Amino acid sequence: MKVTVFGIGYVGLVQAAVLAEVGHEVVCVDINAERVEKLNQGIIPIYEPGLTPLVTNNFQAGRLRFTTDAAFGVEHGLIQFIAVGTPPDEDGSADLQYVLAVAKTIATHMNSPKVVIDKSTVPVGTADKVKQQISTVLTERAVDIPFDVVSNPEFLKEGAAVADCMRPDRIIIGTYNEQPIDVVRELYEPFNRNHDKMIFMDVRSAELTKYAANCMLATKISFMNEMANLAELLGADIEAVRKGIGSDPRIGYHFIYPGCGYGGSCFPKDVQALIRTSAQNGYTPKILQAVEAVNNKQKYKLPTLVKKHFGDDLTGKTFAVWGLSFKPNTDDMREASSRVLIEELWAAGAKVHAYDPQAMEETQRIYGVRSDFVLCGTKEAALQEADALIICTEWQQFKAPDFDFLKQQLKTPVVFDGRNLFDPERLKQKGLQYYAIGRGQ
Ligand code: NAD
Ligand code: UGA
Repeated sequence: MKVTVFGIGYVGLVQAAVLAEVGHEVVCVDINAERVEKLNQGIIPIYEPGLTPLVTNNFQAGRLRFTTDAAFGVEHGLIQFIAVGTPPDEDGSADLQYVLAVAKTIATHMNSPKVVIDKSTVPVGTADKVKQQISTVLTERAVDIPFDVVSNPEFLKEGAAVADCMRPDRIIIGTYNEQPIDVVRELYEPFNRNHDKMIFMDVRSAELTKYAANCMLATKISFMNEMANLAELLGADIEAVRKGIGSDPRIGYHFIYPGCGYGGSCFPKDVQALIRTSAQNGYTPKILQAVEAVNNKQKYKLPTLVKKHFGDDLTGKTFAVWGLSFKPNTDDMREASSRVLIEELWAAGAKVHAYDPQAMEETQRIYGVRSDFVLCGTKEAALQEADALIICTEWQQFKAPDFDFLKQQLKTPVVFDGRNLFDPERLKQKGLQYYAIGRGQ
């Protein structure tokens, strides 16, 4: 099938590569000319495990193309994916300008029937706006070309995006009528083999399903962070509690890891956007407000622990920070907890020696060159001259450090762990003072 994808970010690029891999002919359109040029030179703009060979092989086979030429893209595909960003507006609601700009572009250039599939995360009612936008432009052009608008939210996780797209848990399809169903079934047929993963519903329910899923996951995390804070006050160990409750299949082990707050491009913005949608409809979403408040506070957990130990004035102190990305296996720094930590340390007068396996370039882009910031080539180098170690992201390579070496390198034998990677007893035996999340300091 001929497919066009607007937006070559985390979602668009991965989805396009996966669709090309199963044999579809995919053209990707982006307004970012530098990104398109890089991809045409074989340079993949984001880090995502398994993505490079997938893009390279399909690009070389001619099934995956990259362009800024929107007219060419619209002409190419019967299916037109919208996979552009929906960042938060000033008031927290989703900014739809990019989505509606693509709708306008499609309508401006289309000369044959199209199935427009919205993959961006958008508030309920957006498909109506996309439909309206396309109709308006077609009327202005005085042409009558049939088109369908479908809501097909994406559920991939960064760091596992290729695997998630290759083997989705479910494929949500929201439609206005039966018309586009056969085309969408054919598109996703290769991903729907073992059992039927396609769930059909109306457009508004599909749009809400996406927000409900992310908000439910964010709720689990904030709930566990609240329990962790309570465990500290009560002298309990949240890791024991986590195992104890996770063993109940009604609760499950997923997304109950306490930590230094959730980050990323989606949970923070989607929780905020659903709060805004609720307010716009006269409803006060008390659970969501609490989820957001608990998370915003949790991001200050690590700097608070550091100040509890070293005092509020950190002038003259240097901290080694391991892990900068918002989660492992990505270079994405959007809303990362590390940013709150680092900025708080700087504000208190400290210097930071940081290391991340993938997010160094992105961190450099965000913060530039500063006298109080050193990006180190290895995790060991970050420890040199440091007063203490702080862990923000649970990359595999941080999970079994040489504790004797650690103790020898640090000026003060203290470890602050925002991801509960270690056994507190073990660190105590090694002579390291250990601050973790919800583990009874
Ligand atoms: P992104 O910021 O990584 O990429 C968006 C891309 O769209 C950019 O390359 C930008 O240049 C391009 N773009 C903007 N306007 C355009 C236009 N008019 N025409 C063509 N291209 C245009 O975004 P992302 O992380 O891939 O997210 C995209 C959407 O998918 C968002 O709504 C997000 O909430 C949702 N989503 C993201 C993830 C994730 O893990 N990142 C997962 C599920 C859903
Ligand atoms: C999340 C969802 O998991 C995806 O299903 C969804 O498609 C995506 O948002 C989206 O809409 O963009 P992602 O943000 O890539 O995916 O990563 P997650 O694995 O969900 O982690 C998000 C944040 O929660 C990270 O900062 C992570 O450290 C934190 N987290 C996760 C916890 O603190 N505890 C947990 O138990 C799990």
